[in-house]
This record gives sequence, C-alpha cells and structure tokens, in this order.
Amino acid sequence: MANVIVIGAQWGDEGKGKITDLLSRSADVVVRYQGGVNAGHTVVVQDQTFKLHLIPSGILSPDTQCIIGSGTVIDPKVLLEEIDQLDELGVSTQNLYISQTAHVTMPYHRLIDQASEDRRGDQKIGTTKRGIGPTYADKSERTGIRVIDLVEPEGFEERIAWAVNYKNEVLETLYGIERLDPKTVVEQYRGYADRLRPHVVDSSLTIDEAVRGRKNILFEGAQGTLLDLDHGTYPYVTSSNPISGGACVGAGVGPTIIDRVIGVAKAYTTRVGEGPFPTELHDEIGEILGDRGAEFGTTTGRRRRCGWFDAVIGRYAVRINGLDCLAVTKLDVLDGLEEIKVCVAYRIGDEVCHHLPSSARRFAKCEPIYKTLPGWKQPTTECRTLEDLPKEALSYLKFLAELMKVPIAIVSLGASRDQTIIVEDPIHGPKRALLDAQGVPV
Ligand code: IMP
Ligand code: MG
Repeated sequence: MANVIVIGAQWGDEGKGKITDLLSRSADVVVRYQGGVNAGHTVVVQDQTFKLHLIPSGILSPDTQCIIGSGTVIDPKVLLEEIDQLDELGVSTQNLYISQTAHVTMPYHRLIDQASEDRRGDQKIGTTKRGIGPTYADKSERTGIRVIDLVEPEGFEERIAWAVNYKNEVLETLYGIERLDPKTVVEQYRGYADRLRPHVVDSSLTIDEAVRGRKNILFEGAQGTLLDLDHGTYPYVTSSNPISGGACVGAGVGPTIIDRVIGVAKAYTTRVGEGPFPTELHDEIGEILGDRGAEFGTTTGRRRRCGWFDAVIGRYAVRINGLDCLAVTKLDVLDGLEEIKVCVAYRIGDEVCHHLPSSARRFAKCEPIYKTLPGWKQPTTECRTLEDLPKEALSYLKFLAELMKVPIAIVSLGASRDQTIIVEDPIHGPKRALLDAQGVPV
C-alpha cells in the first residue's frame, strides 16, 4: 500500500486529471487538498468527456471515496452542478465527502475577484475570476464562511447576513458595485446547504480511518508548483498551496503518512493568465503546440500560452515538492516536429542562471538557453512500451530525466486511459523507475 501525492510540476494543466484517474484505480481514497473551481480536469472514459472542477476524478471509480479537503474553497453552486452532471451520466456521488472546515465561496467573492482584476489594469493577474483569491483572503482575514457554518442550523442566518453586510461596504465603497441582499443570499445558501449536508464530514477523521485501515490514499493537487502562493511565480500565482507540502495542511494529515510524491509535467510548457514565461513561443511552433495539444482552459476556455519544456522549472519542482518520480504527458503533441528544444538554464544579461529567480522582475528578464534535440517523424499515440517509442522520443525523455535528476514513471501519449506507458507503477512498484535519474534504463 502507498499514500501518494500527485502534483503539477509546471503552471497547472499538466494533465493531472488523466494521471490521477489512472492511479485512482489503485486508490481507495482520493483527496483534493487545495484550490477550488479555478481548477478543471477533463477526463475521457469510453468516449464520454467529464469536466470536473472540484470533485476528484476518482469519483468515476465506483468504490473510491472522494474527499474535498479542508484546504479547498468550495463554490456550492458549481459543486452541485457537478453532482447533477455526474448523476445525469449515471455516476454515483454517494462516495463524495466534503470537509466541514473547507471555506465557502460566496457571491461577493466572485464580484470582488472580477472587479479587482479590472481595477488592476496592467498589474492584473489573469485570474479565473471564480472568487478564489477573495475566498482565501477572507480565510486569512478570519471573516470567511466555512462549510460547517453552512450546515449547522444554529447561527446560520446571522453568520451569513453578517458577512454579506460586512462585504457590502467593500462592494459599494471600493468597487461601486450594488449591495447584495442578505436575505436572498441566506435563502440561496440554505438551499445549497440542505443538498450538501449529507456529504459533509470531519475529513481529517475520515482520512485517518483510511490510514489506519491501510488503504491506498491519493492526494490530488490542483493547479501547479509555479502557481503556489508561497513558492510560485508570485504575484502571478493562485491563492493556495498546490505543492506537495500543501497536501498535509490541506488534508489534515501528518507528513509521516506520505509514501511517494509524483509530479506531472507536460512534454512542453503551457501557462494561462499573466506573468513571465521564458520559453513561451510566439511563432508557428507555439501555434502547433496549442492546436495539437488542444490548449484551451477547461474552466475559462482561454487559449493557453505554449512553449518549450523548461528544465529549470522542472528542477525547481523536483526540489520544492521532493518528487520521487515524474509522469510526462502529451508527448504525442511533439510528434512530427523537426527539432525540439529544452531550456537548460536562463541567461540574464551576462549571467547564466541555473535556478528559478524569486524576483518577478528578474524572472521577466530571463532568456532561455536551449539545447536542441532531434524530433521524430512517427506518431507515438499507439506506443504502449518504451521500446515502441521512436528512438529520438526515448532520447528526449532520457534527457529530461537526466536534466532534472528524476526518474520518469509514466508517459502519456493521448487523452484516453490506454494511451499510456507505465514504465513503473508508482503506487505498487518499488521506489525506482526504469528510466532512472541518470536516464539509464535499469
Ligand atoms: P485564480 O486561481 O483564479 O486566482 O488565478 C490565479 C492564476 O492561476 C491565474 O494565472 C490563473 O490562470 C491560474 N490558474 C488558476 N487555476 C488554474 C488551473 O487549474 N490551471 C491553470 N492555471 C490556473
Ligand atoms: Mg486544468
């Protein structure tokens, strides 16, 4: 048995949905530990496409318990829509559990997210406008509404009405937005609460029971390492901790129960929203990656910015998350390219920089130093073992493993479950991978 954290090693959208879906077949419990409806996973199962924002993709496995943990922020309206969507498709949500200490996104959070983005002008972050930042801000400010406040009948009305009135001042005075009617919000959220109540639990206890029962637990990160509030490319980050360290805080477990940390990285890089992106391509290759990779946000539909793989970021993700191994996704998107570049370091003026700079100003000045590798002509979408891969594709993977000093355990070559090379089962296998850190198959 193993308790595993799966995180995004780049700026989100690495294909974690597919990898957690694969791994959750071996998991008894899947826990989302941070983020909210800013996330979006697209999971394809037998030609059916599921778009999930809050509910872990593990819900598609009938026996898997899915827990939306304490560190998440929950927009009840969107969550209920997801539950309804799953119901319609015949997927049971009986195994869905919601932490009573997660924070709740309120209507004013969305309004403030939108208004503050508009007001920032060229300082805008490019948020998903789902109210994520304002919900976490209220959590820190200690004016937030928690799930427990929704589902406990005593004090419910007073609590919500107080919060709405408090925020009305901000809406009206700071942003010139019409005040919300506390009564309307109370009624709306009472309705949500009634529907969500059967799912609400003390999630730390639920997870602890699973730990003691020696179950396989998968902690599913949303967004990615570089969007981490503390360790990402601040201020162009989200307001939670997607890194592996966030799993313990957001799930309410101790670090001693974690066995493995798996990073997911695309074979190239994408980013949505604002902020520096050294390997971004503004040329035809960028277009090709975007089109072939269908690089549009699941949540906002925005076109993602695309560029070459950045190993400086990769190494950073290995360090910050303590990665045991990597899952490389969308390798097939690179099929047919004449040559493929990998950023091995940055140049800032005359200086060569091997580590991600903390300063956003310095990061914006980073020029990628590339190593160019030969591409491959044959499609990889039907490959099921490393031996099936064109030799240039295998060399590319080995080069990445070597550069980042991390073994590659999984390679994904398309959206469907079977378009995958499992080099080493990261849950059941021994703690090594066939492509070891030196890129040497063992
Ligand atoms: P927020 O999380 O909506 O506050 O957005 C902050 C930044 O994180 C923006 O650059 C968003 O584009 C980015 N972001 C948030 N969620 C995701 C995600 O699931 N995938 C990729 N980028 C995201
Ligand atoms: Mg996404």
